[in-house]
Amino acid sequence: MPQRPLKVVILAAGKSTRMKSDTPKVLHKLAGVPMLQWVLDQAAALNTVETIVVVGFGGEQVKEQFSHHRALKWVTQEPQLGTGHAVMQCRELLADHKGDVAILCGDVPLLRARTLNDLRETHAEKKPACTVMTARVPDPRGYGRIQRDKKGHVTRIVEQKDLQPAEDTNEINTGTYIFDAPELLKRLDRLKADNAQSEYYLTDVVQMLVADGKKVRASVVSDHAETLGINDRKQLAIAERRARRRICEFLMVEMGVTITDPRTTYIEAGVQIGRDTVIYPCSVIRTGVEIGKRCEIGPFAHIRGGTRLFDGCKVGAFVETKNAVFDEGAKAGHLAYLGDVSIGKKANIGAGTIVANYDGEEKHHTSIGDNAFIGCGTVLVAPVRVGKNAQTGANTVVPKGKDVPENTVVVGAPARELKKRG
Ligand code: UD1
Ligand code: CA
Repeated sequence: MPQRPLKVVILAAGKSTRMKSDTPKVLHKLAGVPMLQWVLDQAAALNTVETIVVVGFGGEQVKEQFSHHRALKWVTQEPQLGTGHAVMQCRELLADHKGDVAILCGDVPLLRARTLNDLRETHAEKKPACTVMTARVPDPRGYGRIQRDKKGHVTRIVEQKDLQPAEDTNEINTGTYIFDAPELLKRLDRLKADNAQSEYYLTDVVQMLVADGKKVRASVVSDHAETLGINDRKQLAIAERRARRRICEFLMVEMGVTITDPRTTYIEAGVQIGRDTVIYPCSVIRTGVEIGKRCEIGPFAHIRGGTRLFDGCKVGAFVETKNAVFDEGAKAGHLAYLGDVSIGKKANIGAGTIVANYDGEEKHHTSIGDNAFIGCGTVLVAPVRVGKNAQTGANTVVPKGKDVPENTVVVGAPARELKKRG
């Protein structure tokens, strides 16, 4: 189906009163990354000529966090007088656009690329003035309700607060639409704020189009779980669970990772894991982690940003890592903190090892050589280096800068050389 050029507008200016937060809603994180990033990924799936983000409450903060997205166009809505008013602020950027415009909500993060493509295909098929993405949900409370006539054509969208009992239905407005841009622009100025919230509702454009004899279509989503709108922290937690399940499913089905209990495995967005790695329950793997093939993780591992495990590594129970690079076959089986550290091939980190990377002011780096054997309860005070094939005895404290030479065994606090290691 030939598709017309598409611009995307993401609505992200709302004050998010129901979140009870000083942080703009779209900066709240879902599986480790801000909600707005999820929605930008949706926009990317739509293959757009331009993406416009409308910000207002906390707008400077949002722009700053996303300043690396250089192609984004930012529009400020001040004050925030509703979703229709938000789109009005994009008038200049849309004025010469003869194609379509997709409207996405900054607080509807879970829509999948293929669902958005369905919307686009539905729109391209009959070229209506508007295609609205709808969903049939078990609990429609809080959402705008789709009204259809006897023939099933969409006539109107009624907001929860304006709803009459006869208008109740379980088909909701997901807040996601594609409009013919000139048809939308023509009607924005005619919006009135004569409703329960005294806001300019974007949803009112639908009934204006219908009244003018224009076609409005609906694209009904097959999995309503994707359409969850996040207005409060309860919904944020539900979305978090869904996002997490999706990430685990992707890793299992597409990447060949074994996750013994996805319900208790917390893997954030963007984590890469190689095939035949096994993840045991209650492990947390944060954004910015790369794990190779045939590794063993957990139970109860906490793997933080900047950690990279090469193939065949083990990070076991109650081990926390951060900015840690494990070369092939390196193992930390139990109870350790390993931050800002590189660990050589086949090195073994004993239970209770702590890399003291923070001196109260700055973080420092530790390097542990190939095949090193770090004894139980060792404290390595960074910056420090442990040479290849070196060994520390139980409860050794290696002070900062007192590097352990290759092939030596050190013991005690502070560490002293005991003998050469065979
Ligand atoms: C909106 C829809 C509702 C739909 C629901 C889907 C309207 C009037 N209602 O309701 O039909 O079922 O989304 O989740 O459109 N925003 C602005 N500026 C504003 C107001 C809002 O940018 O002045 C942004 C918000 O930041 C948010 C989005 O628009 O990302 C939706 O606004 P919100 O207030 O959450 O609308 P809902 O009541 O959820
Ligand atoms: Ca909302």
